Amino acid sequence: MQNHKRPPASLLFIFGGSGDLNFRKLSPALYNLFIDEWMPEKFGIVGIGRTPFTDENYRAKLLDGIKQFSRRKDEQNGKWQQFSQQITYLQMDAEKDEEYQKIAEIVKTKEQEFGVHPNVIFYMAVAPQLVPDIAKKLGSLNICTDTKYTRIVVEKPFGHDLQSAHDLNKLLMGMFSEEQIYRIDHYLGKETVQNILALRFANALFEPIWNKNYIEHVQITAAETVGVEGRGGYYETSGALRDMVQNHILQLVCMIGMEAPVSFDADEIRNKKVDVLNAIRKISKDEVHEYAVRGQYSEGWMKGEKVPGYKQEKSVSPNSNIDTFAAVKFYIDNWRWQDVPFYVRTGKRLHDKTSIITIQFKPAPQYAFPEEATETWRANRLTISIQPEMDIRLRFQSKRPGQSMILNPVDMIFSYKDAYDGNEPEAYETLLLDVMEGNATLFMRSDQVEAAWKIIMPILETWEARPPVDFPNYSPDSWGPEDAEAIIARDGHNWITLPPLHQE
Ligand code: BG6
Repeated sequence: MQNHKRPPASLLFIFGGSGDLNFRKLSPALYNLFIDEWMPEKFGIVGIGRTPFTDENYRAKLLDGIKQFSRRKDEQNGKWQQFSQQITYLQMDAEKDEEYQKIAEIVKTKEQEFGVHPNVIFYMAVAPQLVPDIAKKLGSLNICTDTKYTRIVVEKPFGHDLQSAHDLNKLLMGMFSEEQIYRIDHYLGKETVQNILALRFANALFEPIWNKNYIEHVQITAAETVGVEGRGGYYETSGALRDMVQNHILQLVCMIGMEAPVSFDADEIRNKKVDVLNAIRKISKDEVHEYAVRGQYSEGWMKGEKVPGYKQEKSVSPNSNIDTFAAVKFYIDNWRWQDVPFYVRTGKRLHDKTSIITIQFKPAPQYAFPEEATETWRANRLTISIQPEMDIRLRFQSKRPGQSMILNPVDMIFSYKDAYDGNEPEAYETLLLDVMEGNATLFMRSDQVEAAWKIIMPILETWEARPPVDFPNYSPDSWGPEDAEAIIARDGHNWITLPPLHQE
């Protein structure tokens, strides 16, 4: 038996219960929480969808998803039977007002069964355009005014632009109060991302040098080898800038850029993060070409396999101008970061799957060493590998053994795989547990979402107004378009990728 406090009784309604997100991410996460004894003593999971399922069929479908996608896959620990008894399926047409009474009835029945009023959690695992209507209909149920127990979880994309995000915030806040709304950015649930707070604020070592006096620039890469994976319909309304930069990458910028919080209170952390977003220098439309680069992948070869170009993907227009790659240079205008560039890039069909943050320090002010000693000299840098490698490497100079004084860069490495048992929870496990516990620290507040949209709006608008002339402009298995190299090379730097620590 684990020695930790479980969350209070909870009842989860998953809209989009028969969909992919639930199948691949939510159910495996909930089952892992159950195996690790983090689920409440009393809980119920109700999948909601239009497709007809009996409870039995539905459970079998979820188990299939777990077997394919859970970090534990086939390792069922003999607990599935016990867990799955708490799962039911509710077939309903979410467009019909009268159907919502079924939800109220389930809550009443479960309350009697549990002997306490449970947390009631509505998870919107549906297409973004359906969220406003479902939220409005839920809003007419009495339970939604219960700010203590009732919560709504909204997936990204949160809005399509600043205006639509603002409208969605307004609509949700008409039905729920801010503390009831959990806007998910799954990057924030990743172990390695949470560890940035520990690295920065649980060590006295880094904070004194974490500023413009010592740091030359920061880089963030979130690269994927996959294409749009059958999500062409969604991606056509999105693109890399909206899909990754507006949310995940700007959140990483916040984690690196924020001031030290005075407590771990959800609002304190979120205040410190929104300060970073508000300090990001506004890029004017005339400057967009200097600060941002877009790309789209062509057809080609990926690790020996022929792959289609973006325009040939399913549900994608053959004339699409959507970006599958984006690189941007940001500045944070405050005392800590003035004039330190933050280069970020993300894309599909790139050479490697890797998310990595590099803190590049300035060179030492003076070298007393003879010139030949410093031929391979490199400035210090700290790299934080988010995934799939999970490690932190600090590069410094050392003397190469031997009779002459030759300096060599070497890495001091902390690797999760070597230090722990490699059984880190997945982001959705952490985030679902937080929702049940009522801890919003890792979720986006309305002002954060809007501040992030404000930052990218000039780029989006400029790109939309000026269609690209060179798409597709990068081949699969590359690192994106040439201009992405130029954006960083102009300042005398280059993108950093790391060799893996563990060869599979
Ligand atoms: C999602 C994007 O938010 O993040 C996807 O919509 C992307 O396009 C995914 O593939 C990447 O997440 P992860 O956890 O695999 O890095």
